[in-house]
Amino acid sequence: RARGALFDLDGVIVDTAKYHYLAWKRLANELRFDFTEADNERLKGVSRMRSLDILLELGKFDIGEALRERMSILKDNWYVEYISHMTQDEILPGAREYIQSLREQGVRIALGSASRNAPLILDKLHITDLFDAVIDGNSVTNAKPDPEVFLRGAKSLGLQPGECVVYEDAEAGVEAAHRAGMKAVGIGTSQTLPEADYIISGLHELVGKSVLQER
Ligand code: BG6
Ligand code: MG
Repeated sequence: RARGALFDLDGVIVDTAKYHYLAWKRLANELRFDFTEADNERLKGVSRMRSLDILLELGKFDIGEALRERMSILKDNWYVEYISHMTQDEILPGAREYIQSLREQGVRIALGSASRNAPLILDKLHITDLFDAVIDGNSVTNAKPDPEVFLRGAKSLGLQPGECVVYEDAEAGVEAAHRAGMKAVGIGTSQTLPEADYIISGLHELVGKSVLQER
């Protein structure tokens, strides 16, 4: 039975992909090229700078380091402006209930996110208190699929990696979990997350039961 649960944020607890999309699209449009929702799929779970590189590649832009830095700041400012209007209603169905029920069962909870905006989002959603530890893009050096974020999560909870289960919606996150020696519950489909150990469409499916106890 797992003693720790490590949650990704974007796409698992909240649907921020639409705001990332709006901000990346705005940047692409400023640069005079289009950026579609299908293109945006490629950016899920991917770090901010790597996302920018993918976007610039799509637009066939080859620019220097200083300009890249400025573009990432521009995008982030727009993104932060969008998410600053976010309310508690935007927590994905079942997320709060499920995490709360795990807590009641004595499971320790950590956030394992690539986002440097994670603290702001948790604050907007009023769910900071649900987490015993928060590991995010501000403290992690190596982005998923590197296991760093989840290994640090387990450590902050005082647990061994094998005692923890990860909840992820991105392939890179599932890989990071496995490389950390943890099982991964995939939020998606067996097509989008073929490597996940268990697939659900969202945390609402788990409310009232515990995958952690079943295994
Ligand atoms: C991940 C998102 O959680 O965080 C990515 O899925 C995002 O889309 C990444 O690029 C970094 O987020 P931020 O907020 O630091 O730009
Ligand atoms: Mg995600």
